[in-house]
Parts: sequence; C-alpha cells; structure tokens
Amino acid sequence: MQGQLFAPAAPDLEPPGKPPAQLLKWIGSKRRSAAAIVLAFPRHFNTYHEPFLGGGAVLGLLKPKRAVASDRLRPLIEIWQTLGNDLPLLCQWYAQRWQTLQGPDKVAQYRILRDRYNVEPNGGDLLMLSRACYGGVIRFTKDGAMNTPCGPHKPIPPEAFAKRAADWQQRTAGTTFIHADFAETLDAAKAGDLVYCDPPYADSEATLYGAQAFTLERLFQTIDRCKARGVYVALSIDGWKRSGSHACAIPMPDGLFESDAPMVVGRSMLRRFQMQGQTLEEEVVADRLLRTWKD
Ligand SMILES: C[S@@+](CC[C@H](N)C(=O)[O-])C[C@H]1O[C@@H](n2cnc3c(N)ncnc32)[C@H](O)[C@@H]1O
Repeated sequence: MQGQLFAPAAPDLEPPGKPPAQLLKWIGSKRRSAAAIVLAFPRHFNTYHEPFLGGGAVLGLLKPKRAVASDRLRPLIEIWQTLGNDLPLLCQWYAQRWQTLQGPDKVAQYRILRDRYNVEPNGGDLLMLSRACYGGVIRFTKDGAMNTPCGPHKPIPPEAFAKRAADWQQRTAGTTFIHADFAETLDAAKAGDLVYCDPPYADSEATLYGAQAFTLERLFQTIDRCKARGVYVALSIDGWKRSGSHACAIPMPDGLFESDAPMVVGRSMLRRFQMQGQTLEEEVVADRLLRTWKD
C-alpha cells in the first residue's frame, strides 16, 4: 500500500558517499553504519524526518533536499539551528572556548565550562564539551547534570572546526531543526515521507542524553500511526552485543515492521568509556534496522 503513495516528483535517493567528519562527537553516533542505513531507505520519498537527531550522522550523509530534524535536548538543537542560521557565530562559540582549553590548566578550565553548562545549559558550551569530554561521551546524571570528565585528547583546532561546519551547513541546507519530543515530529510526517528513528539504546543508555521521556512502547504506538498514514519508518534498535553472545530482548508488536536486517556498528563507545584500559576485542556491537515497508 505504501508504494502507491509515492509522489511522482519525489527526489531520487543519491548513492551515499563517504560519511562526513563529525561536527559533534555524540554517543550512539551512526557514522559507521550510516551508509548501510541510507542504502536501506526507499528510492523515492518526500520529506525526510529524523526525530532523534543527536550528532546527525545519517542526516549528514543523506543530504536530504527537504527535512525536519529534531531532538529533545534543547542545547543540542541550539547548535544545529545556529549551524543553519549563523555559521560565523557557531565558529566563534567554538574558537572562544577552544582557546580557554589550550593552557596547562586545561582540566580546570574544562570543569569551569562544564559547571557553567550545568547552571545554564546552552549550545555553545555543549558544543565544546562534546569535542573535549572523555571518549566523546556526553553523559548526564539522573538530575540532568553533565558529568563526563575532561578527555586526554586535543579537541580539533578552530580552523578545522570551521571547515567541517561549512560542509555540514551545506549538507543540511534543506533541513529545519526543531526542539521537540519524537512523537511531535513523527505525528507531523505525511504519506510518502520517510522517518528514520535512532532512539536511546533500550538496554544501556537509560541515563544518557538528559532528554528522556522516552519509552519504546510510546515509540511503537507513534510508528503505528505513521504506518497507517503511509509514512515510511525505519528504526535502528539494539541488535546484540558482545559479538552476538548477549542478545538484547526487545518486545516487538506483531505486524508493525515488514523487514528486519542486522547492521554492524563496530565497537561500542559506551563500553570503551566504562572499561577504560581493558581489552575490547569482544565488544562488537550490531544494530537492527526495522522497516515498516518491504523492498
Ligand atoms: C542514539 S542518539 C541519536 C544518535 C544519532 N543517530 C547520531 O548519529 O549521532 C539518541 C538521541 O535521542 C534523543 N532523545 C532522547 N529522548 C528523546 C525524546 N523523548 N524525544 C526526542 N529525542 C530524544 C537524545 O537526546 C539523543 O540525542
């Protein structure tokens, strides 16, 4: 049924190239599996929607002509909106904060930045924290405070950031960024539109992101409404971890998804962060991509 709802003038899906270098480091980034995910999208669709935007790896690779991208974390959306509306300001945010982390007191300066963010969450500070924090893992406590320590690495210099930001601005030129709960974005999608969902990992990310109000059950109900309207929905979800030895049990509603394919993501950044110094050879992570349509 969904196949009949494609608009004749819908844009063709371009073959994905190489994923762009990350604008933000974001836990759960789909950079490594973005090309496989894009290849699993329908060849034609109208507006693209990404309601769990994070670092936007799939959006950046897809370069959609028309898109709506959203996330529940307001300072994160402030970064994306500033990319679209005021590129020089975004680069200035980065350069000013980068400068403060160049001296021998880098760790102390990082803590000042983090404390300031926690008192008044804002896009500029979150941008620098994402690039400077340990393992690129932005992690929040139950009270919503960002508590990741300073990483030992050197954040990329402002010139390199400015280059990336200009590239990302072009890639997202057709995208409107919105601060919203996922359900709002999914409910606005129309027949023939495509939605890609990459929610917090059900079994390991409960305390990450500081933007919760998320349950799989509510997501499935929202996807069900989309499917009934003729919207294509693709959903990345925990597949298995520890090279397949630990399967993640997800209760799946009968008949909601028409296809289910494994996507190897690589090693888990979260595990890398938690297991500092330990060997991670077994920590291969794979996602599943569930789709409400068949090829
Ligand atoms: C796995 S990450 C997305 C990663 C992204 N695909 C990437 O490549 O970087 C999940 C995102 O969902 C957001 N999130 C959590 N709860 C949400 C909700 N109720 N509505 C919308 N976004 C939410 C988090 O802030 C986080 O950025």
